[in-house]
Amino acid sequence: LVIVIDFGGQYNQLVARRVRECNVYCEIYSYKTDIEKIKAMNPKGIILTGGPNSCYEADSPTYKKELFELGIPVLGLCYGAQLMTHVLGGKVESAPVREYGKTEVLIDKKDSKIFEGVSEKTICWMSHFDYISQIAPGFEITAHTADCPVAAAENTEAGLYAIQYHPEVLHTAEGTKMLSNFVLGVCGCAGDWKMDAFVENTIQEIREKVGDGRVLLALSGGVDSSVAAGLLSRAIGKQLTCVFVDHGLLRKDEGDEVEGVFGPNGQFDLNFIRVNAQQRYYDKLAGVTEPEAKRKIIGEEFIRIFEEEAKKIGAVDFLAQGTIYPDVVESGLGGESGVIKSHHNVGGLPEHVDFKDIIEPLRDLFKDEVRKAGLELGIPERLVFRQPFPGPGLGIRIIGEVTEEKVKIVQDADAIYREEIANAGLDKNINQYFAALTNMRSVGVMGDERTYDYAVALRAVTTVDFMTAEAAEIPYDVLNKVMSRIINEVKGVNRVFYDLTSKPPGTIEFE
Ligand code: XMP
Repeated sequence: LVIVIDFGGQYNQLVARRVRECNVYCEIYSYKTDIEKIKAMNPKGIILTGGPNSCYEADSPTYKKELFELGIPVLGLCYGAQLMTHVLGGKVESAPVREYGKTEVLIDKKDSKIFEGVSEKTICWMSHFDYISQIAPGFEITAHTADCPVAAAENTEAGLYAIQYHPEVLHTAEGTKMLSNFVLGVCGCAGDWKMDAFVENTIQEIREKVGDGRVLLALSGGVDSSVAAGLLSRAIGKQLTCVFVDHGLLRKDEGDEVEGVFGPNGQFDLNFIRVNAQQRYYDKLAGVTEPEAKRKIIGEEFIRIFEEEAKKIGAVDFLAQGTIYPDVVESGLGGESGVIKSHHNVGGLPEHVDFKDIIEPLRDLFKDEVRKAGLELGIPERLVFRQPFPGPGLGIRIIGEVTEEKVKIVQDADAIYREEIANAGLDKNINQYFAALTNMRSVGVMGDERTYDYAVALRAVTTVDFMTAEAAEIPYDVLNKVMSRIINEVKGVNRVFYDLTSKPPGTIEFE
C-alpha cells in the first residue's frame, strides 16, 4: 500500500492512477488524516500531492516533522515538495518567475534512484508560483530548470524526495517512469497488484460478507453497474437480483442489449428483472420542458419503480451499488479535492427499500480499472468501453418536451451517427458523441414537397475529465454522410447541425 496525501491540487486523482498503473495499490487520504492513522496503515510509501496554498502561510495545510521521520519513504510533489522543504528547515518563497506548462528539466544527479532510466533533459509539466529557494539540511539538488534552481531534491538517507513539477500529468514525458522508480525502486513495492487478483479477491470478499444473504442491485446498463453485477453474479449467483428499469429514454435497442447480457439467456447467473416503464415516463414527462424539472422527474420515478420492485421481492440483506473510487473522492470522503459533481447524481438512495447494509464492490477502482475488471469477467467490450451516458438519458437530449415520437427520432438519428463514427474508425478518439433533438422545426424541401420538420444536432467532444471539452474535428465527408443518412432514413427530420461549441461556454449535453 502506498498512501497519497491530498492537499487539494487538481491532479491528485491522477497521482493515484499512475501509481496503480505501476501495479501498486494506493489510496488517497486527506491532509487532515493524522500521523497515527497513517502509521497504523503501515504503508510502504507516502506521496504528498500538489495544492493551491502557500506552505509558509499560517493557516495552510501542513504536517509535523514526525511525518518525515517514520522511516517510510516520502515523495513530495509541488506543494508537497515545498511543504517537505519548509517543515524540514529549508526555504520556500514566492518565485520571481512563475512557471506554467511544459518545461525542460535538467537532471543534475544522474544516479538518483528517481531518475533511473530517465533522459538527462526531460520535458516536465510545471505549475507553481512558489519555489524552493533553499533546500532543507541533508538534501541535495537533483534537477533544475532555467527558472527554477530546485526542480527536484532528495535526502536518500532519510528516504525523502521532493519534485517541483508534476510527474503524474501526461505532459511530463517520463513522469510515470519517475513515479514507478519511487514506488518500486525506493519503496520496494512488489508491483504485483493485478486486475485478475482483484477480481478473485473481491469475489471471495463478497462471498464472506454476503454469506447466504440476498443482494439487490439497480442495473442501468452503464459500465459501473454492469461490472458490479458481473462481480456479484460470479460471487453469489442467484442470491443476486438485478432490477433494470427501461425508462424509454435509452439509446436505440439498448434495453434489449442489456437484457441480452444479463437476462435469462445471457452469460451470468442471477435473477434479472426488467421493468418496461416507457409509457409511465412519457406520461410523467408530458408537457414538462424545463431541464432540471425533467431530470428530477426521471430520477424520482426511477426510485419509485425500484422501490416497487423491491417491495415485491421483500426484505433483502444488502443493497449493492456501483460506486467507484472517483465518486468516493468527489463526494469528499477520500481526499480533499472539492465536491464538484453532485448535481449529476440522479435520485440518490431509495428510502423505502428494506435492506441491512450496503455493498460496493468497485469502491476502490478507477474507471479504467473498472473496465479491466469488466473484461476480466467476460462482459462484452461494447458494454465495457461504453461512452458515458447520462442517467436521465435521452430525456436531456431532447430539448423541450419529451414525447414518444421525439424519442424515436433521436434514437434513430443517434444510431446512424454512432454507426458512421465507428465505420470511420473515430469512436476510440472521441470521448463522447451523440445526436440530440433541437426543439426547432423549420421549412425544407424534399422531392417537390415542402417539409416542416425537426432539426437534429450532432455533438462530439474530446475531453480528459468532462469538466472542459473541445468539439471534435470530424472529417467533413463523415459529417456529410451522417447528415444525408439521417435526412433520408429518419422521418420527421429535415436539417442536421454540427455543434462547434466547446465547454465552457457550452456544456456537453444540451440540457
Ligand atoms: P455536461 O453536460 O454537464 O456533462 O457538460 C458532463 C458529463 O456529465 C454527464 N451528465 C450527466 N450524467 N446525470 C448523469 O448521470 C445527469 O443529469 C447528467 N448531466 C450530464 C454528461 O453526459 C457528460 O458525460
